Formats: sequence, C-alpha cells, structure tokens
Amino acid sequence: MRYQSGFLNHFASEAVAGALPQGRNSPQRPAFGLYAEQFSTTAFTAPRAENRRSWLYRLRPSAAHARFSPWPGAPLLRGAGPGPVTPNRLRWDPLALPLAEGDWLDGLTTLAANPGIAIHLYAARESMQRRVVQFSDGELLIVPQHGALHLVTELGRLDVLPGSIALIPRGLRFRVELPQGPARGYVCENHGAPFRLPDLGPIGANGLASARDFETPEAWFEDRDEPFLLVQKFEGALWATELDHSPFDVVAWHGNSAPCRYDLARFNTMGTVSFDHPDPSIFTVLTSPSAVPGTANCDFVIFPPRWMVADDTFRPPWFHRNVMSEFMGLVTGTYDAKEGGGFVPGGSSLHNAFSAHGPDVTATERAMAASLAPEKLYGTLAFMFESNAVLSPTEWALATPLLQADYDACWQGFPKAAIGGP
Ligand SMILES: [Fe+2]
Repeated sequence: MRYQSGFLNHFASEAVAGALPQGRNSPQRPAFGLYAEQFSTTAFTAPRAENRRSWLYRLRPSAAHARFSPWPGAPLLRGAGPGPVTPNRLRWDPLALPLAEGDWLDGLTTLAANPGIAIHLYAARESMQRRVVQFSDGELLIVPQHGALHLVTELGRLDVLPGSIALIPRGLRFRVELPQGPARGYVCENHGAPFRLPDLGPIGANGLASARDFETPEAWFEDRDEPFLLVQKFEGALWATELDHSPFDVVAWHGNSAPCRYDLARFNTMGTVSFDHPDPSIFTVLTSPSAVPGTANCDFVIFPPRWMVADDTFRPPWFHRNVMSEFMGLVTGTYDAKEGGGFVPGGSSLHNAFSAHGPDVTATERAMAASLAPEKLYGTLAFMFESNAVLSPTEWALATPLLQADYDACWQGFPKAAIGGP
C-alpha cells in the first residue's frame, strides 16, 4: 500500500501513468477514454480555506446505476432523529466478539445521536464482498478497537489498525475488509463541518497532531464487471441499488477531498510542567467546528500514554459538569479516571450536558493519597467525541443488556470532607 503524506493537501495520484490530465480538470477526451467526475464535499462556493473537492478519472461515471430502493439490512443503524433522552450517566459493556455472522455494515449499531453527529459501534467477522456503502449524511471517523480494517475506497486503499483512525469523506463509496478476522470499534458520523486540525494558538506551530502524519492513499482501481450491491445511508434511512461493475474504478484523481488514516501514537501530547492540568481540549486531534466560535459540533479527543508530573495537583481528570456532551470509548488499557473497573476496552460511556462526573472512588482515593513523583501512564488509549448538543441514546442503547445498571455506584461511598469548624 502506498500513501501520500499530509492533511487537506492538494493530492494527485494515478494508478496508470498518463491517466491524470494535466492543466485542466475536464478535458474533452481524458486519456484511455476515462470519464472525469467532480466529487464535492463542500459547496462550490465555500471559502477557499474550507473548500474540498477532488476530480476523479474512472472507467465509468458513478452515475451509471439503477434506481435505489429501501434496503432492510443493518437494522440497528439509524439516523439522527429524535430519540429518548435522559439526564442519567450511562455506560455500556462492549459488543460481543465474534458476532455470529455479518460484515461491517450488517453489524453497525447506532448508540446515540444528535443533529450534528451519530455514534455507531461495529462488531464484524466477515469482509464486505460485493457490497459497497456510501454515507450521504456525513463524514465518518472510524476508531478501530480490535482487529485490522482494510478499507477499499474510490480513491484508494487504507490499512487501519487499533491505535489508528480513519476519516472517510461524506458521500465516498467504500467497503470494509477484515484481513485479520473479527473486528470491533467505534464510528462518529459527522453531519456538521468536516473534521480539521484545531488551531494551535499559543502552543505555536508544532504540537498535537501534525498534518504530515495523516496518510491518504494513492489511486488504485479494480476492473470487475460483476454485480455489486451499493447501499446508501440517506437522511437516516438505508437505500440500495445494484451495480453491474465495481465502483472502485477510479484510475487517477487529484484534489483535497480524500480519505486518510492517522496513527494516534504520533499525537504530540502536551500537559502541564507545573501544577493543575489543562482542560482536556489540549488533547484534541480533530475538530468539527459549529457556527459558535470555540464550541465544536464535535471534537475528537484522545487520552494516550503520557507523563504526569504536576506538583500539588489532583492528577486524574477532575470532577466536573460540562455544557458540552461527552461520549467516551476505550481502545486499550485503563482510563485513569476509572480505576475501579467497569469501563473496559470496547466499552462506552455517555455524560450528557451538565451530568456530574469524574473519577470513581478508587481513582479518587489513590490520587489524593499518591506521592507525586513523575509517573508515566503506559498502555492506555481512551478517546472522547465531545459535542455541543445533547446526545440521545437509541432505543437499542437503553434496552440492551450491555447497559450497566449500576454505573452510578462508582460515585457512591466518597467519605464526607471533615471540617473542624468553630
Ligand atoms: Fe468529562
């Protein structure tokens, strides 16, 4: 697999020499009789810094398909419509692995959603074969937790392992193969502004995620005149049509709307070297801004291995209540606010707006008693999708036996502070 380095670069790639036109986007007759097609993931008139589009040169136009019909598959994949809401703090055990059957699309399960994002879980054991999917409602941020993914997209192929993420532009067609067997993970479907790197402010030109560490595939195509089922998620519903050829027939492309992967181990984690610790926004990998400055439709935030060195400081994530709504997942290890168990790799938690949360009793007692030598947190990777709107759990999420009945108990039993008052 070959990759191009950068984020939102103007990439250019051809799988066959001479397939990519030079000097114009839509020549009268592209080389080899290819068809030119623009793929726009922002409005034509989006400001230059926001504008995203690519030009694709393919064996057939992607318009060459029959009528879509409602598709009954993936019954637990749903849109961001209104659902039951609760002010309660919620936590779920992981989906079981391996599932009895099914590919990545079959097993997609929506856990929670608001108008700006939907959060899905996946647990799959089979590769998608002659099945392709297109999310017309939003860009996908895929966070593998177990097992490798081989993503075949119109613009090329991506290998993604746990510890890495993938971004699939809204509307791009792709299939998911499982080269190492069963796979499990999380998906954020972003209906808002596309994810981008956060501004760095006083941090300066370096730090957090670096554009050069994002990897976009080189052009790759397959010439297969066989039936393929194209499933589309459109306004929350699923539709399908039959193709008589593989849609992965883009021989060359150029532009800045493209899938990519990113190894989270390359995130340059920052923290205090004196006391207290910064707000978790210091761990923001990618952000989808809203219309309100500094108030994200979705921030993707990670809690990776890092040194803790703060003097006279309560070091775990503190107790807090937040106007933003927080969904958390765990890729590996133990999250430093939940040492008492219950938040396990593959699990999920949801703390909606102003839900009081923070470290459990075990983590709190340890942190208040600890001698504060420098300490490294090893072998851990938690993450958060943080959103400006309350996330409604799906009916499935509230009914599944994976929902923990006793989550509140992790904040029971704090000894009362003793005040020797007058
Ligand atoms: Fe929080």
